[in-house]
Amino acid sequence: MDDDSPPMPDAGENVMGLTEVEPSPVDETPVEFEKDYFPSSSSSSPPGTSTLGLANHGPAYYLLRVQRYSSYAFTVFASFHIANTSVIPLLTKSVFESNRYLLLTRPYYQSALTEPLLVGLPLIAHVSSGIALRLYRRRQALRRYGAETHRDRKNIPWPALSGTGALGYALIPLAGFHVLTTRIYPLYMHGDSSLINLSYIGHGFSLHPLISFAGFTALVGVGAWHITWGWAKWLQLSPTQVTDTDSRRHLVKKRRWYVINAVSALVAGLWLAGGLGIIGRDGKTEGWIGREFDELYNSMPLLRSWS
Ligand code: HEM
Repeated sequence: MDDDSPPMPDAGENVMGLTEVEPSPVDETPVEFEKDYFPSSSSSSPPGTSTLGLANHGPAYYLLRVQRYSSYAFTVFASFHIANTSVIPLLTKSVFESNRYLLLTRPYYQSALTEPLLVGLPLIAHVSSGIALRLYRRRQALRRYGAETHRDRKNIPWPALSGTGALGYALIPLAGFHVLTTRIYPLYMHGDSSLINLSYIGHGFSLHPLISFAGFTALVGVGAWHITWGWAKWLQLSPTQVTDTDSRRHLVKKRRWYVINAVSALVAGLWLAGGLGIIGRDGKTEGWIGREFDELYNSMPLLRSWS
């Protein structure tokens, strides 16, 4: 993890009295603001400005903004979700009681309008803008280094993947499996997923304890670390975004690294305390609803092959 690892002593410091400054995590490289390296003399507007007076930004500018603002929408959903699946279960110490709160808030994020706006579209936009940005920067690098042959292309490295980015990619299959089992599969099997609640998750823990404990721990852990580091980056608080250039730099970087990881651990710990500690230990649901849950879990090919 490049920007998420503890800061190392800076070898470049004090060489000829100069301080080596790490590449600044600016939103986009200045070159991307202009079409050509040398501004065209025929253009009457100042560089970086369109004829309408609007900023003439490159694709990286817009892709970064899509990546950023889509995560804001998803954060709204994530806040509802942590409240329903952790904070309320921890406060009420009852899955039965917590299900009532879940039903109360569900219409806000699971309606035909809000679910795509808060969950589906932001996630698609967030991930695809990240991939597009990566491909765009790759193309820029190939162009700048003048890659012509296949060998040239192989020798030019791809844009570095940050620790936060790597966690983001790890989150896709984990979150994907969670959405599949709690939303898509019940919809496909029963035509709607209104039966799905916290008891359904507790039932799953009883039927498949190992997968449930491992899966939810990984999902919550990776999610908490990605989201916390992600927000630190949006707020210009990540260690690589330290602006001090004096001797305090290392100290500030180190402090930020510890604080962000401590906040990530706190979020993950809180979520797991409610998720595993209360919901995960709720046990099986009896009666016809329990039989419906059994039927759903038993018909999931991936889970069946693991039991
Ligand atoms: C809810 C709040 C979220 C925030 C604040 C957030 C923030 C971020 C940030 C700052 C980056 C850029 C990392 C970097 O360039 O160093 C990023 C990348 C990424 N995020 Fe998220 N994210 C969130 C949710 C998610 C979710 C739920 C997923 C997947 C299910 C996800 C998947 C990704 C992926 C795949 C990347 C890597 C894109 C790339 O750079 O190639 N993110 N996220």
